[in-house]
Amino acid sequence: MKIRTVEYAGTVAQANGPVPGDLPQVAFSGRSNVGKSSLINTLLRRTRSKVARVSATPGKTQALNFYRVNDHFFLLDLPGFGYAKVPKTMRDQWKGLIEGYMRRPVDLRGVVHLVDSRRNPSDQDLQMLDFLAQLGTPTLVVLTKVDKLKRSERKKAFAKAADRLGVDPEQLLPFSSKTGEGREVLLAALDELLGS
Ligand code: GTP
Ligand code: MG
Repeated sequence: MKIRTVEYAGTVAQANGPVPGDLPQVAFSGRSNVGKSSLINTLLRRTRSKVARVSATPGKTQALNFYRVNDHFFLLDLPGFGYAKVPKTMRDQWKGLIEGYMRRPVDLRGVVHLVDSRRNPSDQDLQMLDFLAQLGTPTLVVLTKVDKLKRSERKKAFAKAADRLGVDPEQLLPFSSKTGEGREVLLAALDELLGS
């Protein structure tokens, strides 16, 4: 896929709120600070002209932000979870919003779930992946910030994460917003999810 146009299309702040159109959707999830805004901006960057910049406000927006890409699909930026300082009532709200939204019969083709390659996947990561498996939503797991790992550490980190997540290490996509590693592979994977 070539990124031609990206426009901010709207926000859904309640699970049953109106969605900004009926294009197919791909959602991006992960804990706060995992590198989600950076990944989305790296993914959507075009060589010329400006891309709608995905907000970098830390773990604040408890809403689903929609970006229309190539007039072809919506990229959904989900709120980052696992912010330690957030009270439980707010975490429950987050869960209600995401899970409630995903249970709706919207045209959600897949979820890209991000995990920091230097950290052990958390219980919340496992819960999210379980939930998606129950729903039957196709899911890609991306390990972020791989530029911070030495070559020798990478294999170990991937094996460890794969073991904890119960998947094959080859199913984990390496990504770095710093070097751009993984961008083309992820774009191709999105094409596949979208059937385009
Ligand atoms: P919240 O919106 O606060 O939940 O965070 P986020 O998941 O959107 O993360 P964000 O993209 O804002 O990145 C968090 C921090 O990690 C920033 O300081 C980034 O510069 C850094 N970071 C993100 N991606 C990478 C990466 O691929 N490599 C390196 N070295 N640093 C990264
Ligand atoms: Mg962010």
